[in-house]
Amino acid sequence: MASIYIDEDVGKDEPGQLGSETSPFKTLQFAYLQRPAEAQYLVRSPAAEGDADAVDGKVWKPAAKSALKKVVNYYEQQKKKAAREQELAAKRKQEEEERNAILLKAKEIVLEDDASLPAPVKIKLDEVGDHIKLRTLDDPESKGTRVRVVGRVHRERKQKDVLFVTLRDGYGFMQVVISGKLAKTYEALTLTRETSMEIYGEMRQVPAGARAPLDRELHADFYKIPSYWRAAGGDEAITNRVTADTDRSTLLNLRHLTLRGEGASSIMIVRDAVEGAFSQAFRELRIRKVSPPALVQTQVEGGATLFKFDYYGADAYLTQSSQLYLETCLPSMGDVYCIEKSFRAEKSLTRRHLSEFTHVEAELDFITFDDLLANIEHMMCRVLEIVMSDPVIAAHIKTLNPDFTLPQRPFMRMKYSDAIQWLIDHNIENEEGQPHSFGDDIAEAAERKMTDIIGKPIFLTHFPAHIKAFYMQRDPNDDRVTESVDCLMPGVGEIVGGSMRLDDYDALMAAFKREALDPSTYYWYTDQRKYGSSPHGGWGLGLERFLAWLCNQHTVRDCCLYPRFMGRCAP
Ligand code: 4AD
Repeated sequence: MASIYIDEDVGKDEPGQLGSETSPFKTLQFAYLQRPAEAQYLVRSPAAEGDADAVDGKVWKPAAKSALKKVVNYYEQQKKKAAREQELAAKRKQEEEERNAILLKAKEIVLEDDASLPAPVKIKLDEVGDHIKLRTLDDPESKGTRVRVVGRVHRERKQKDVLFVTLRDGYGFMQVVISGKLAKTYEALTLTRETSMEIYGEMRQVPAGARAPLDRELHADFYKIPSYWRAAGGDEAITNRVTADTDRSTLLNLRHLTLRGEGASSIMIVRDAVEGAFSQAFRELRIRKVSPPALVQTQVEGGATLFKFDYYGADAYLTQSSQLYLETCLPSMGDVYCIEKSFRAEKSLTRRHLSEFTHVEAELDFITFDDLLANIEHMMCRVLEIVMSDPVIAAHIKTLNPDFTLPQRPFMRMKYSDAIQWLIDHNIENEEGQPHSFGDDIAEAAERKMTDIIGKPIFLTHFPAHIKAFYMQRDPNDDRVTESVDCLMPGVGEIVGGSMRLDDYDALMAAFKREALDPSTYYWYTDQRKYGSSPHGGWGLGLERFLAWLCNQHTVRDCCLYPRFMGRCAP
C-alpha cells in the first residue's frame, strides 16, 4: 500500500504535488481527494520524547481514524454531487438537442397567406364598428371579419399547442389565438415579448367565462415576423431588464423601455388628451396660440433658477416662463396662450420639481383679478370635462386614479393672510420650526399638508409682494400684498401660479430697481407700458403637476416622457 504524506507546515495543496515524503500535501482532505482509498495517509505530527525516528521533533504518523472518517464522508458527498451534476448536464444536453431538433424542423414550416380566404381589413387594435363582425359562439355558421393587425407582443402564454398573444399597438390590446401549424413555427416557438408581428385572422367572440380586451379575440390564420422584428430574449429580454424590483434610477435609465408598460403609457396617453383639451378650451374662448422663444436674455422668476449658457459670446438663458413675451402679444392678438417648455435650474430633488417642464400659460387683456381667477377655474374644469367625456381617456384616468371626481365649483378662495392663520391654528410650523407669521414663504411641506387636510382645490391669493416676482400688481386695498394666486391641489400642492401685472411704467421701473434688475434689457417689456398699457394678467400651469394630480402620481417625473431634474439629463 502506497503512503501519502501530509505536512501542514510545509506541504502544499496543489495538483502538481506528489504526496511523497519530500513533496507532501498540506491537508488530509486534499490528499484524499487526489489519491482516495488506496493508501495509508501519514501526517507529520509531534514526536514522543526520545523517538529515534524524530526529525526536528516530528514523525510521520497514520492519520487519526476520526479525521479520516470525516474526509471519506466528504469525498463520498462530493462524488455523489458530481454524479448528480453530470446526470443533470446530460439531461440538459439531451433536452437542448431535442429542442434544437424541434427548432430545426420548425424552421422548415413556411406560412403562407391563404388566397382563398377573404382579403383582410387592416384595423387598429381598439377599432370597433359594424365593419368588424365577430364569429359568435351560439352560431357556428356565423363568420367573423378577416382582419390584419400589427403591433408588439405585450404578453404571451403557451397552453398545450396553443399560443395566446396579447398584441399592443399603442391604441389598444388584442388577444390573439395562434394554433395548429401556426403555433409550431420557429418564430412561434421562440417568440419573445416586444417582438413585432403582423397577424391575419378571423375576429371571434371570446368563449364564455374567458376574458379578453373588448370581449373578442383574433384567431390567426397567418402572420409575419421578419427576423429583424424579433425582440431580444434571454438575459436581454425586456422582462429581465425591467422587473418589479428594478430600482428607480435604473428604471429612469431604461425609460425608453418602461414607457412600453401599461402604467407609463397610460399617463402619456392622458397627457396627450390633456394638452389637446387645453388647446380646445382656449380656442373655445378665442384665446390664440403663440410660440415665444426658449432662448432669452431676461429672467422672469428670479435669478436663482436660471440656466445660463453662452450664446455666440453673450450671456443667455433658457426661459423660465413665456409670460413676458405673451404680454407683448396682447395689443395685436388679443388674449393669448402658449404650451411651451420652461426651464428651472432647481437645486433640490423634490417630487414636484423638474428642470424642464411643460408650461401652459395664458395672458388676458383688460381684466380684473376676479376675471383672472374665473378664467383659471373655467380652464381647469373645462379641460377636465373634455378629457372625461372621452370614454377611452376616462377609462385610463379611472384605472390610474380610481377615486377621481370632477372638482366642485367654485374653488375655495383663501387669502395668504388667512392661510398663515390656518397654519398657526393647525400647529403646522415654518421651515425654521417656528409658528408661521405674515411674510413667510409657505414652504412645500406646509403647503401640501394644508392642501391635503382641506382636500379640495384652493385658490390661495394676495401674497406679500416681497415673496413674489417683480412684475405683480399690488392690491389696491392693501399695498403690502399683490393680486396674485396659486392654485393648490390635494396630493401635489401648487399647480398654477398667476397674477395681475404691474401696468404702470413708473411702478414697474420701481420694481426693477427694488429687485436690482437692469431694466434696459427689458425695454421690449417695459415699452408695453409706454404704448397703450392696460389692466392685464395671466397664469401658468405646470402640465406635469396637473397630471400628477389627475393621474394620482407620486411624482411629476412619471408625468413626462424623459424627465429632467438635478443630476439627470439622459436618456
Ligand atoms: O409659479 P410659477 O413660477 O409662475 C410663473 O412662471 C408665471 N410667470 C406664470 C405666468 O403667470 N404665466 O410657475 C407656474 C407653474 C407652477 O404653479 C408649477 O405648476 C409649474 O409652473 N412649475 C414647475 N413644474 C415643475 N417643475 C418646476 N421646477 C416648476 N416650476 C414651476
